[in-house]
Amino acid sequence: MREKKPKSYKELVSMPEKLKEKLPTSYDVVGDIILIKLDNALLEHKNEIGNSLLNIHKNVKTVCLIEPVSGEYRTRNVEVIAGENKTETVHKEYGLKFYVDVEKTYFSPRLANERMRITKLVKKDEIIADMFTGVAPFPIMIAKKSNPKIIYGIDKNKYAIEYAKKNVVANNLLDKIELICRDSKNVKKIVREKNADRIIMNHPT
Ligand SMILES: C[S@@+](CC[C@H](N)C(=O)[O-])C[C@H]1O[C@@H](n2cnc3c(N)ncnc32)[C@H](O)[C@@H]1O
Repeated sequence: MREKKPKSYKELVSMPEKLKEKLPTSYDVVGDIILIKLDNALLEHKNEIGNSLLNIHKNVKTVCLIEPVSGEYRTRNVEVIAGENKTETVHKEYGLKFYVDVEKTYFSPRLANERMRITKLVKKDEIIADMFTGVAPFPIMIAKKSNPKIIYGIDKNKYAIEYAKKNVVANNLLDKIELICRDSKNVKKIVREKNADRIIMNHPT
């Protein structure tokens, strides 16, 4: 008789039932990396939890235990608990490609719908400034789908701008997006001079 396929990673983890209740039901998948938060009581089982997730998600290569985002750059401490020892991946969303380092840069797959909502508001030939661009997911989606004139993407984190540049090239948008590695408070003048029609500043959480 064929073995029944487990529906959730929780079925593969062996631990007392009381502890199992603390296992999270949701986690983020960024490219081929799973990002999961764990209750302190589960930490001694972190590797087993990571391996169970790898077992269920055949396309995932790495599982990372994460802390909440913090600091000016909104990055987080990350610990690989199973699979390949890496923090870089490529995330696909609405046919777009985003190279991301989940430790050195901010990126949230949960903002996909918000990116699409903003993209639909943009009119052809707009000039846009994204004051806190990260790896440039907003500029890339807008440039690909709404035909703006130009988008300026600004970020203070040099790693975010490094990945943003890689993403602009990967999505063939060199003629539509200009990236600036600066503190946004020092680019107000540039934004005024460029006559931006729209300024994007997403909430820093
Ligand atoms: C919450 S993240 C949003 C990133 C991106 N918009 C996204 O949705 O993925 C905020 C970004 O703002 C950048 N940042 C924070 N303070 C900044 C400043 N004063 N000037 C420029 N960038 C800044 C951080 O490095 C981070 O990449």
